[in-house]
Amino acid sequence: MSRSKPHLIVVGSSNTDLVIQCDRLPNPGETILGGEFARFAGGKGANQAVAAARAGARVTFIGAHGNDDFGRTAKAGLCREGIDVRYFREHRKVSSGVALILIGGRDRQNQIAVARSANDTLSAADVRAARSVFRRADAVVAQLEIPFAAVQVAAELAAAAGIPFILNPAPAQKLPAKLLRLVDTLTPNEHEVRVVGKGARRTVVTLGARGVLVGNQRIPAPKVKPVDTVGAGDCFTAWLAVGIAEGLSLEDSARRAVRAASIAVTRSGAQPGMPYRREVV
Ligand code: RIB
Repeated sequence: MSRSKPHLIVVGSSNTDLVIQCDRLPNPGETILGGEFARFAGGKGANQAVAAARAGARVTFIGAHGNDDFGRTAKAGLCREGIDVRYFREHRKVSSGVALILIGGRDRQNQIAVARSANDTLSAADVRAARSVFRRADAVVAQLEIPFAAVQVAAELAAAAGIPFILNPAPAQKLPAKLLRLVDTLTPNEHEVRVVGKGARRTVVTLGARGVLVGNQRIPAPKVKPVDTVGAGDCFTAWLAVGIAEGLSLEDSARRAVRAASIAVTRSGAQPGMPYRREVV
């Protein structure tokens, strides 16, 4: 395991986030007026790839986008971060992933609806096509905005390569034992931890502004004034994975990841808001 510049594989989604900031989040059936509209690069997988790259890792991103401006812009953004996008494939007959996001309330909480679109075309074969990269990597990260078969193969390839598989189980779904037993570290939030099931080697529960739980130990988050919480969980998972790949203990990795996520929430946009290593370490 390399300690200086670890190589992470991120298998996951890429979206374009269409965001409206509101004073508060609307109730069902209610229309409220928001402020300026903004468009940001997002998607849990791509967010984690960018966060890991800015944390100092070499990153290969495995994902799918459509034949449209959203997808091409997303790919160009990952390229600018120095991320290997050879396995971020274009699927001609579908649109790229889009997330409609409302941000509101004092804590700048969010409501998100995602059109899976091209993310849903990422197949087990697409992940297997990158199997030679797994042999050279230090850790693999995935989430659940892509088909389960792709996540399962990523976990199996990580196990075959003898490297840790870190799973951010978002959006929440019950996970089968055959996947959970391949998970080195699971990073659910308080809602997801009740849904996913038991069986991962280690679990770190994110608690938002209250920090995270590593086993029974709570690591508090620095107090900050949040602007936009979208992507904070992705920032945490990526930094945790980079720490693990660098050979840090889970607790030290989590401390650093909490600091990184607390910086991310003070900035607008999932990917633009990800902090750089010099700001965290
Ligand atoms: O985790 C935040 C992400 O969830 C957003 O960027 C949005 O695209 C959704 O995938």
